[in-house]
Amino acid sequence: MDNAKLILDGKEYELPVFVGSENEVGIDIRKLRDTTGAVTYDPGFANTGSCRSAITYIDGDKGILRYRGYPIEELAGKVRFSAAAYLLIYGRLPTELEFLQWRKQLTLNSFIHASQVNFFDNFSTLSHPMNILGSMVSSMSSFYPGEADDKDLIHHNIQRLIGQVKTIAAFSYRKSVGLPYIYPRTDHSYAANFLRMMFATPAEEYVVPKVMEEALDMLLILHMDHEQNCSTSTVRMVSSTMSNIYASVSAGINALWGRLHGGANEAVLNMLQQIADDDGDYMKYIEMAKRKDDSFKLMGFGHRVYKNFDPRAKILKEAVDKVLTELGIHDPLLDVAKGLEEVALKDEFFVERKLYPNVDFYSGILYRALGIPTEMFTVLFAIGRMPGWIAHFLEMRADPDLRIQRPRQVYIGENLRHYEPEE
Ligand code: CMC
Repeated sequence: MDNAKLILDGKEYELPVFVGSENEVGIDIRKLRDTTGAVTYDPGFANTGSCRSAITYIDGDKGILRYRGYPIEELAGKVRFSAAAYLLIYGRLPTELEFLQWRKQLTLNSFIHASQVNFFDNFSTLSHPMNILGSMVSSMSSFYPGEADDKDLIHHNIQRLIGQVKTIAAFSYRKSVGLPYIYPRTDHSYAANFLRMMFATPAEEYVVPKVMEEALDMLLILHMDHEQNCSTSTVRMVSSTMSNIYASVSAGINALWGRLHGGANEAVLNMLQQIADDDGDYMKYIEMAKRKDDSFKLMGFGHRVYKNFDPRAKILKEAVDKVLTELGIHDPLLDVAKGLEEVALKDEFFVERKLYPNVDFYSGILYRALGIPTEMFTVLFAIGRMPGWIAHFLEMRADPDLRIQRPRQVYIGENLRHYEPEE
């Protein structure tokens, strides 16, 4: 492909062009400021490629999502969470032996340091579980210090992160309801261990319902990666300073918390509940979402990249019906969600702007069916996203183009003026 040409102030500049493995075109503007003095202006970075990445491919117009080349439809509900995590991090699916060893290591590394467990006693009772998760992950660097270029230590830290994120999540729940902590076992899958740590009591054996284990496995895989989304870009941003992996990932957890990103799953459920309490009058909320003078948005709708169905939402919608039927649950919020979706998809406002249900629209109903409290939904997103953050951390550290991330700006403030002391 020919170079791109830029004409600025009557002068022509050539910008190199490169093509990705799915024919995406990148214009290399690395020399732009040096040669022209100008910078690009792209609020929200919707047109900015911050890196080359070989992890996840999305085609937002066609509704395609692939991890390491595999379509999401062939992974979610088909492979185990630990196997998909291995794929994302190491670039290929594990052999049977590798899978068993990896899964065992994840469990053996899932015990929180005994002194760190005391931290749970000192959080305010008002703490949101995402706040607890971010703080606990951040504090892991004081229990497992060092890193920088130590590859073995980084890989050990990866196992600790994936293993312990679910322990932190389950313990913060157990603390909030005053139940004793339950520890994971190597003879359980990742998802089964999490459910057991959440819901078992020490008094009797807890048999993890297969349908719940499989549903959770699928949910976690659907959330595993989504290329340069806000939290992943945050992890990359922080790690570009050579901060350690715990510092980088805890920053990602905080970015995920917001309701425009991962926090949307909690916001969707609250919105559906509010509509149900409002006599199921979803038309009122559709109208509110369309009003320019109202900041209300239809939570779980719209996406920066997908301008067609989010493939994750498609999988989830089918799974919700199946899992709720198998568990014998009728959730009135599912009826509200379906009604809302049906109306929105026909409404000119949503059609024109290509606003479709995203991954967060149906995930909450599934979490609810599994018994997960609403304020923990985003924590579940974080557990699923952990391998994605890690894969990006590793990819970035190995990238020969790595530089500290430091965007420019176009200054629009006061011109030079001088302080004149009062006489
Ligand atoms: N309800 C009503 N209007 C919307 C919505 C919505 N959910 N989403 C976008 N719009 C409108 C928006 O007001 C704008 O209208 P106009 O052109 O008249 O100004 C137009 O659609 C384009 O939206 P945008 O805000 O420029 O899009 P964006 O790419 O900056 O934001 C988004 C994407 C996901 C933040 C946004 O769609 C949104 O706030 N959705 C609701 C929150 C949500 O569900 N977030 C989860 C995203 S998926 C999972 C994840 O990332 O974690």
